[in-house]
Amino acid sequence: MQTITRLDMLRKSVSELRAGGAKIALVPTMGALHEGHLTLVREAAKLADHVAVSIFVNPTQFGPNEDLDAYPRQLAEDSAMLEKEGVAILWAPEVGEMYPDGFASSISVEGVSANFCGADRPGHFDGVATVVNKLFNQVRPDIACFGEKDWQQLAVIRQMARDLDLVQPYARDIIGIATVREPDGLAMSSRNRYLDDKDRAAAATLPREMREAIARIEDGQHVGRTLAALEDALLGAGFSSVDYAELADAASLEKLDELGEREGRLLVAARIGGTRLIDNMAVGAT
Ligand code: PAJ
Repeated sequence: MQTITRLDMLRKSVSELRAGGAKIALVPTMGALHEGHLTLVREAAKLADHVAVSIFVNPTQFGPNEDLDAYPRQLAEDSAMLEKEGVAILWAPEVGEMYPDGFASSISVEGVSANFCGADRPGHFDGVATVVNKLFNQVRPDIACFGEKDWQQLAVIRQMARDLDLVQPYARDIIGIATVREPDGLAMSSRNRYLDDKDRAAAATLPREMREAIARIEDGQHVGRTLAALEDALLGAGFSSVDYAELADAASLEKLDELGEREGRLLVAARIGGTRLIDNMAVGAT
C-alpha cells in the first residue's frame, strides 16, 4: 500500500494503477477506522481492481462548537488495518494540501440537505459535498462506496453526482452499503469511543426503540404519536436530548406524517453524555 500525502504524487500513482484499464474504487473516510469502514473497503474490493481509501478529517464539515479538535486521529493504526485489507492507495492529505491558502469555493446541495442533520448542523453538508467532490476529482474513481449509516449524506452525494455530472466518466456508481452494527445493535461509529460504559450500554436503546417504532408504524399506528413515544423512551433511557426522530421518504428525505405506499426511512439523532449519535432504518420496505 502506498501512503500518499501530496496531490501530484496521488495523480501519478492513480494513473499507474489505472494503466491497462484497471478500475479504481474510492472509500472516503475521516479515519479512526472500525468494522463499518472496513466493510466498505471489502465491498469496494469486490467491485474494482484496486481500492483507494482517503483519510481526511475535513474541517469544513464541522461547526464551530463541534468536535473537530477532539475527533480521533490514529493514522498509524488505520494504515495497518488498510494494509491488511490489501488497499492500494491511502490518500491522507494535510489540511493545507486539501485547502491551500485562498481556497474560496463551496458546493451546496439543496432539498435533500434541508432537514435533519442539515438543519441541526448549518454548513455541514456543504463541507461534505465540497470535500467529496474534491476527492472525486483528485482520485477519479470508477466507483465510490458510502455507508447507509449516514443516509442523508448518501442522498446528498447521489444528488450532487447527478446534478454535477460526476457520474460519467468517473465515479460511475455511488454504492451504498448497509449499516454495520455492534452485537447489541448500536451502529458502529468513530464517535462511540466518546461514550463511557454507562452511556455505551444505554446507547443500545436507540436501535432497539427504533425497531419498536418501525413495527408500530408498519402496523398502522399513528406516526406522530409513535415518534413522540420513541423520543420519550430515549430520554427515559438516559439520552439528554433528541435532535430529531422523524419518518421521511427514503429517497427525497421529505418528512412524512404517514407512510402510505412509500418506502420510508426512520431517521434519528440523539445526544447521550455529550455525544451526538445518529441512526436510520428502513420503514415499510418490501
Ligand atoms: P466517516 O464518518 O469516517 O465515514 C466514512 C464512511 O464510512 C461513510 O460513507 C460512512 O457512512 C461509512 N460508515 C461509518 N460507519 C458505518 C457503519 N457503521 N456501517 C457502514 N458504513 C459506515 O462520513 C464521513 O466520514 C465523511 O463525512 C466523509 C464522507 C469522509 C467526507 O468527509
